[in-house]
Amino acid sequence: MSLEDIIRPDLEPLVPYAPGLRASQVRERSGRDVILKLSSNEHPCGPVPAAITAMEAVLHRMNRYPDGAASALRWKLSEKHGVPLEQVVVTNGSNELLRLVAQAVLRPGDEVIYPWPSFIVYPMVVNIFGATHVKVGLDGGDACHLDDMLAALTERTRLIFLCNPNNPTGAIYDRKAFARFMDAVPAHVLVVVDEAYFEFVTDERYPDGLAWLDGERPVVVARTFSKIYSLAGLRVGYGFMPEALAKAIDKLREPFNVNTVAQIAAYYSLDDEAEVRRRRAENQEQKVYLYSCFDRLGVSYVRSEANFVYLKTERPVEVFQGLLEEGVIVRDFGNAPALRVGIGTPEDTALTIAAFEAVAARLGAF
Ligand SMILES: Cc1ncc(COP(=O)(O)O)c(C=O)c1O
Repeated sequence: MSLEDIIRPDLEPLVPYAPGLRASQVRERSGRDVILKLSSNEHPCGPVPAAITAMEAVLHRMNRYPDGAASALRWKLSEKHGVPLEQVVVTNGSNELLRLVAQAVLRPGDEVIYPWPSFIVYPMVVNIFGATHVKVGLDGGDACHLDDMLAALTERTRLIFLCNPNNPTGAIYDRKAFARFMDAVPAHVLVVVDEAYFEFVTDERYPDGLAWLDGERPVVVARTFSKIYSLAGLRVGYGFMPEALAKAIDKLREPFNVNTVAQIAAYYSLDDEAEVRRRRAENQEQKVYLYSCFDRLGVSYVRSEANFVYLKTERPVEVFQGLLEEGVIVRDFGNAPALRVGIGTPEDTALTIAAFEAVAARLGAF
């Protein structure tokens, strides 16, 4: 028997997650010193000062295992959001949460409804657990199409992923639409609302997924410290869900799934509400500058509630390459007619706008 026979054959057609280009790769290729990596929806600033101080202080204790229950962090999240402690789960990035939720509920043949284009991890977890893909296109505003998702429900639907704001488009569905949706979803279906970017939202019609968590209803709200809190490198995400599901996940997760540095940094990050407000306001301001650049250049884009902007172009490969030559890394989607540009600091925005103008001067309209 060969190794090929030992490895699960259904893994053969799957592809690993493809991260965006790293700044060092582009620096080598372009010969430029200043490289802007705007391809992974990261925050341009480092962690908040209290988190850095706390992380530095804990480094000499790395001989000890982490608190396997992440008690302090879970307690703080519970207090902050008014959710009972038993309904708070902390994970190695929200990525792990999405996978654990799927692992807890999916049997082979179960159907999973998810929006598309959206976060690549949804189809990945469907593959991992041998479930059936039910991909639903976005609505006219490039948000999750809640009515079409309802129309796709069957007896075999087990799970629905919603992404709000949606990655990569940044568009949201509103409170009214969500209420209609939640009223119509049958009890045999778990709804996972992925709110990785909720802290950036400024539109008042945005629905808070937590409003639907009553401890009984099959709903999960997934969030992360990777985005506005700048802790992407530490991997710490969290979710709110009924206690029965939290208990099931506790049986599946690794015993020490969130490391000590991550727990401490996340704990202290939660105190800095003023910095979160500042980051949200700055993100909003920079997006508006970028929109005005796109308007000037005649580039079509989706108005975003997140820290990135989705632009539509019939020449994605040329624009992507052109921006790389200018030292700006954006996210491409193969041959799909779109690119996603992350929002950075005011200095980053100035460089991004200059790069788009240079590419437009070379390529003409795109
Ligand atoms: C919609 C969405 N959900 C979840 C994540 C995962 O975040 P993390 O695993 O870093 O918490 C991302 C990251 O880009 C995302 O875009």
